[in-house]
Amino acid sequence: MFATPDPTTLSKPELYRKLAGQVSALTQEETDPIANMANVASLVFHALPRLNWAGFYLLKGGELVLGPFQGRPACVRIAFGRGVVGTAAEKRTTIRVANVNEFPGHIACDTASRSEIVVPLLSDDSHLVGVLDVDSPDLDRFDAEDEAGLRAIGKIIAAKLS
Ligand code: SME
Repeated sequence: MFATPDPTTLSKPELYRKLAGQVSALTQEETDPIANMANVASLVFHALPRLNWAGFYLLKGGELVLGPFQGRPACVRIAFGRGVVGTAAEKRTTIRVANVNEFPGHIACDTASRSEIVVPLLSDDSHLVGVLDVDSPDLDRFDAEDEAGLRAIGKIIAAKLS
């Protein structure tokens, strides 16, 4: 039903614009948060090259709990403030890590991960609902264009989680 945009023929901003359009189209008629996050994890994982993991952690009872994702099985619970996920959640800011081995407290769920980006998801009334976490087996995989693109996608899905 959904053909993922071709990353070899599009510039990165174009790729993310197409992807954001698909995220909106795929989630707009559906209210179930799990279904929407599952499809977004799949879209991101299959549309972006050089990834080994893409998915969600949701804030539940003061910790980040694994949500829908694509990739190898991952750590289930991450304490607020721990690892890249917990730090992005605590600071409510996007964190891009060029080399996860140099990030103090990085949690190695998949030993293949070399770089990572975590985008906090804020509800319409500015409450943290969780994070979008994307990992790559390549060092320094994520640049400012990836950050802008993933933040835009994070905004669309966050609005569906409140
Ligand atoms: N590496 C993350 C943990 C989650 S996995 O990458 C899926 C971290 O340090 O928070």
